[in-house]
Amino acid sequence: MKDTLRLDRHLSQATGMPRSHALTHIRGGHVTVDGVLVRDTAQHVDPATQEILLNGQPVRPFRHLVLVQHKPPGVVTSTEVGSAQTVMELIPEALRHRELAPVGRLDRDTSGLLILTTDGALNHRLTHPKRHVDKVYIAELARELAPNAEERLARGIILDDGPTLPAKLERLGPLTVRLTLREGRYHQVKRMMAALGSAVLQLHREQVGGLKLPADLALGETRELSQAEIALLVK
Ligand code: URA
Repeated sequence: MKDTLRLDRHLSQATGMPRSHALTHIRGGHVTVDGVLVRDTAQHVDPATQEILLNGQPVRPFRHLVLVQHKPPGVVTSTEVGSAQTVMELIPEALRHRELAPVGRLDRDTSGLLILTTDGALNHRLTHPKRHVDKVYIAELARELAPNAEERLARGIILDDGPTLPAKLERLGPLTVRLTLREGRYHQVKRMMAALGSAVLQLHREQVGGLKLPADLALGETRELSQAEIALLVK
């Protein structure tokens, strides 16, 4: 027996679009079945044997995109077109039509790991203050930190928007530190280091959650994450 279902149901199930959008597409004359324009939303179709096209393209299963970018300094984390180059302009041409949004922000002068995704739930999960997702930065400082900096960061620092959650400091050299934060507030690393008496000369993010900036991702490159990498991000 043929496995048929309503055209609007098929369109919605196959693409992930809401049923109301599927109805609009069908009524608007955007859908053909075996070359014939169909406006009857209740028409039954057999997706296994019939060719169903939306705007002339095969109906493809809907899949969220999760991208990793090695953001260069000088590029702005914004979806708005302005005078400066944005992280959106570094996305491969073929993916730019998707509704991608950066996950959090890196300052213009910060480099390193930036995630961009079409998945609003994932974005929320990675940025929500209560989720406490680790973010690991390497900072080049103008001045060496006092010996009690580790302890002060572990206790939390008072900033003008409230105390910070405990953060971990590792000294990689007299003026180079690795800082692990569990939140992502505006200019947070720079403000925390300023509270400890040093300006930040360079800032680079090397990790979000369990995902490290892939070693083979050149500065300025953006690519899709594998399922295994996405699992690291949210673990
Ligand atoms: N903290 C900062 O100060 N800047 C960034 O870009 C990220 C974290």
